[in-house]
Amino acid sequence: MKFIDLFAGLGGFHLALSDLGHECVFACEIEKYLRRHYEENFKINPEGDITKIKPKNVPKHDILCAGFPCQPFSKAGYANGFSHKVAGKMFFQLIKIIKYHKPKYLFLENVPNLLNHNNGETWNFMKKQIENLNYDVDQKILSPVDFKIPQTRDRLYIVAKQNKLDSFEWPKKYKTKPNLKKFLVSKPKKNKRLTEKKQNILNVWKYFLKKIPKKTYLPNPLWAMEFGATYPYENETPFSSKIKALRNSKGSFGVKLNKKKTEIFELIPKYARVKTKKFPDWKIKMIKRSREFYKINKSWVDKILPEIIKLEFEAYQKLEWNCQGDGFSLRKKIVTFRASGVRIRRNKNSPTLISSSVCQVPYLPWKNRYLSHEECLNIQGFKGIKSYPEGDENFYNTIGNAVNVGVISKIAKNLFNLENTSKK
Ligand SMILES: C[S@@+](CC[C@H](N)C(=O)[O-])C[C@H]1O[C@@H](n2cnc3c(N)ncnc32)[C@H](O)[C@@H]1O
Repeated sequence: MKFIDLFAGLGGFHLALSDLGHECVFACEIEKYLRRHYEENFKINPEGDITKIKPKNVPKHDILCAGFPCQPFSKAGYANGFSHKVAGKMFFQLIKIIKYHKPKYLFLENVPNLLNHNNGETWNFMKKQIENLNYDVDQKILSPVDFKIPQTRDRLYIVAKQNKLDSFEWPKKYKTKPNLKKFLVSKPKKNKRLTEKKQNILNVWKYFLKKIPKKTYLPNPLWAMEFGATYPYENETPFSSKIKALRNSKGSFGVKLNKKKTEIFELIPKYARVKTKKFPDWKIKMIKRSREFYKINKSWVDKILPEIIKLEFEAYQKLEWNCQGDGFSLRKKIVTFRASGVRIRRNKNSPTLISSSVCQVPYLPWKNRYLSHEECLNIQGFKGIKSYPEGDENFYNTIGNAVNVGVISKIAKNLFNLENTSKK
């Protein structure tokens, strides 16, 4: 069948569908550099801004694919979704093309939050618009990790067929877990190492893990700033406490708070400075666990504490140990430096998040390098693609926005198989 690839990006839909024997007859993508890569990879020069394209200039096709921009619907973006002028315009432009060409199949992708946006009204409205053009529509949230691909990335997949979807079934999820090893390469083009600063942070936590006695309960997260702190947090907060009581307590790393009011708030963790009378239960629980950990483990923690204090940023003084039950070492673990803390996860059976942000690229301590571009491409299903952005920022933006080819392929097989069944 002939397909069109709208909001083409790096061409995830293209790869999956052409691999199944379908032919791309049109693509559009607003970013010039992505159009160049698309042409180099697929020998098709995409058109630019979709809002400038006249439906009659789009060639005839059987399948319309579109991973339309998700920012206006995602939780991360500003939550004004459908009323957002640009997003609205994009969807209506899609509808115009669908109305003009009436392709047999529609295959769309977006963020899961589209379903909840505006209490579900946005999606209901969009679905109705498509149904009014005589399509049977179905949607499901799936993640690559459901199909043995080491990546957690919930996305909303929307399929539609003229008249009836017949016996279409969503691909079945696998019971077995993915294995990252299968997606790694032995000699990546670039070996991106940790900066000296990050290496130092990791060394401090590595040493901490080396010293921790076996079978110790290590809470997740561990907020080191709470070591030695006694400021009120359970029934009241520093904000709601009497200044006298606050002055008698201790702040981050046990520092005395017998100071001027303005200085006191500089000496407690940032998350405790909020102007609220009561902390949420989750925060109370985390503070409590971190303080208890320190109480029990003070004797050996105190030897490392000066190094942790030197880490300076709160994000580096928080440890997120997601490996309960494992030995305390960084061997075969994955590290990400997040705003919420230094996150450590198992490499095996642990899905890797490929994000569009350079700061969150997973670091592989046993390889002494970050996950490489080739490995991100492998995980996203773009294995062996010739041309892609080389600069880190454009690369992660593109690969983080791309559809997962493996998932698209699974759905496409089931969807377009209906074709074979109906021809028989
Ligand atoms: C969610 S990404 C889709 C990624 C794509 N499916 C892939 O596999 O790489 C959305 C894409 O739409 C492009 N885009 C945004 N506004 C556009 C517009 N007005 N016209 C055409 N493309 C646009 C963005 O540059 C981005 O590459």
